[in-house]
Amino acid sequence: MTSRIDAGPDLAERARGVLDPTSFAYYAAGSGENLTLREAPDGWREPRLRPHVLRDVSTVDTRTTLLGTDLAAPVVAAPTAFHSLATPQGEIATARGVASAGSLLVLSARSSREPEAVAEAAGPWWAQIYCLRERAVTEQYVRRVAAAGARALVLTVDAPYVTPRGAELGPLPFDAGDTGARLSDPATRPDALEQDPSLTPGVIARLRDLSGLPVLVKGILRPDDALACVEAGAEGIIVSHHGGRQLDRVLPTSRALPPVVEAVAGRVPVLVDGGILTGLDVLVALALGADAVLVGRPVLWALALGGAAGVESLLHSYREQLSRAMALAGCPTTADITPDLVHTGREHGTPC
Ligand SMILES: Cc1cc2nc3c(=O)[nH]c(=O)nc-3n(C[C@H](O)[C@H](O)[C@H](O)COP(=O)(O)O)c2cc1C
Repeated sequence: MTSRIDAGPDLAERARGVLDPTSFAYYAAGSGENLTLREAPDGWREPRLRPHVLRDVSTVDTRTTLLGTDLAAPVVAAPTAFHSLATPQGEIATARGVASAGSLLVLSARSSREPEAVAEAAGPWWAQIYCLRERAVTEQYVRRVAAAGARALVLTVDAPYVTPRGAELGPLPFDAGDTGARLSDPATRPDALEQDPSLTPGVIARLRDLSGLPVLVKGILRPDDALACVEAGAEGIIVSHHGGRQLDRVLPTSRALPPVVEAVAGRVPVLVDGGILTGLDVLVALALGADAVLVGRPVLWALALGGAAGVESLLHSYREQLSRAMALAGCPTTADITPDLVHTGREHGTPC
């Protein structure tokens, strides 16, 4: 087991060496021609920064607060399915690593361990939800995660149907455990456990009333959708294309983010994910208006390489890299990372 894990673009190749090929392919997969998947990291490399100088950066503070939860850095573990493919303890190990790093776990609705068991190992966590055709199944799950201590629900809305992916799993090469049982209840109708494709924004208030928890909506790429969700009661927006695993050829989240931030106008936090591989990427995302980012595959690679300690090390590395980038950009706190850090060509006196 490797314990030192640096955030960066070579992590996937390192993880390939320790994962069985089917599991690696499942985690790595995109959809269609993988255009969205391939473009995602480059989106964060496009903007050019205008760093401040002569600001006191002798100490840099990466901490932030998200819906009342204090975080060591604005980097959160995205909901990703089936962590048992990476390590036998699955999400229990992830939860430990995330908690040790002072971060927040968003537990996938397709976790390979039961939420109550993960909650025991976790620090602060949110529960990602899919609304299934059989509402009773979703309602029961929502009650369970609320009782287990989730601080918020994350409703994923970009998957009314699951897109076939290039390298889809055949029979699960592991004990899908509790999730397997939950998703194969013979008492329910055959399509009961498929995602409900008829959802509208009204579902947000229903979930809030059912759980008593704030609801964030994940999978937003357009400002009008973001606004509709906020008006329907969403308490956070997550700009995401599901790691390039749903509709292919959608725009990079780095480009979708600024108009969403503008439309939401500070009413609720806006988070973003997709191809965020380094602390410098995090700085760019924050400068483009995000309150925090989520990282999906990097956490899976770290989990495979180093278990809980690997996840902790990865998150520390994002934080260190962000801290260094903030210092060089003249931003001693995350509040100092403002949109004018990004060169647009429209600044006063700056030729286009
Ligand atoms: C293997 C894998 C499984 C995923 N499972 C879920 C899921 O169960 N629910 C969900 O909302 N998003 C899921 N996602 C999407 C992630 O939450 C996130 O949007 C995406 O991974 C971010 O991109 P990144 O992997 O480049 O960081 C999954 C992504 C991957 C790679």
